[in-house]
Amino acid sequence: MVRIAPSILSADFARLGDAVNAIEPEADLLHVDVMDGHFVPNLTIGPPVVASLDAVTDLFLDCHLMMTDPADFLEPFRDAGADGCSVHVEVGNTATLIAQMRDLGLATGLVANPDTPFDVFAPFLADVDLMLLMTVFPGFAGQSFITEVMPKVAETRRELDRLESPAALQVDGGIGPDTIGIAAAAGADTFVAGSAIFGAPDPQRAARSLRASALSTLGAA
Ligand code: DX5
Ligand code: ZN
Repeated sequence: MVRIAPSILSADFARLGDAVNAIEPEADLLHVDVMDGHFVPNLTIGPPVVASLDAVTDLFLDCHLMMTDPADFLEPFRDAGADGCSVHVEVGNTATLIAQMRDLGLATGLVANPDTPFDVFAPFLADVDLMLLMTVFPGFAGQSFITEVMPKVAETRRELDRLESPAALQVDGGIGPDTIGIAAAAGADTFVAGSAIFGAPDPQRAARSLRASALSTLGAA
């Protein structure tokens, strides 16, 4: 399975609704990068923007919370229209945060940075709807894909299969026509792409060709 999650971080924020509507036919979910200026050295958007997005699209709103302290914001994001939230395992308190997301009716996501080992998040894999493995250090769009994360993607795929878990295995960072196949071959099924989609002259076409690259790698395997 190949699911494409355009990241609005690379869209024109002054024309966000138009950018989202333009990509809708090729998007399986919409990736919303929330940065708090503390967990990562950048500041982006919060619940009011999610509410505005929710008003203009039916896409699943997949909120990637790059926040040191997400607990107080899960409910505001849910109320704003988030469908799923993902919290970083590096901030700790993981079991409580997953339970809180579940109680709020959010799809539960967990994120691991490129240098966070498998063993740190493995205990939670049975409890999440989505596992996101970062293929760049979070904070900025347009960085280069870190291939060294692929053994961890493969190990996570094996563990999800062993658990017979239907959870999505998402990768985020540096995904483009030359890298999506590498991540798909390692076992990822959900692909976040910011600059490769919204930085392209024709975002819909760029998303379509990303999907085709992933599918052709899988078909050739
Ligand atoms: C990075 C964000 C990513 C980013 C991806 O901190 O989590 O979602 O927008 O951008 P690209 O696809 O340009 O690497
Ligand atoms: Zn992200």
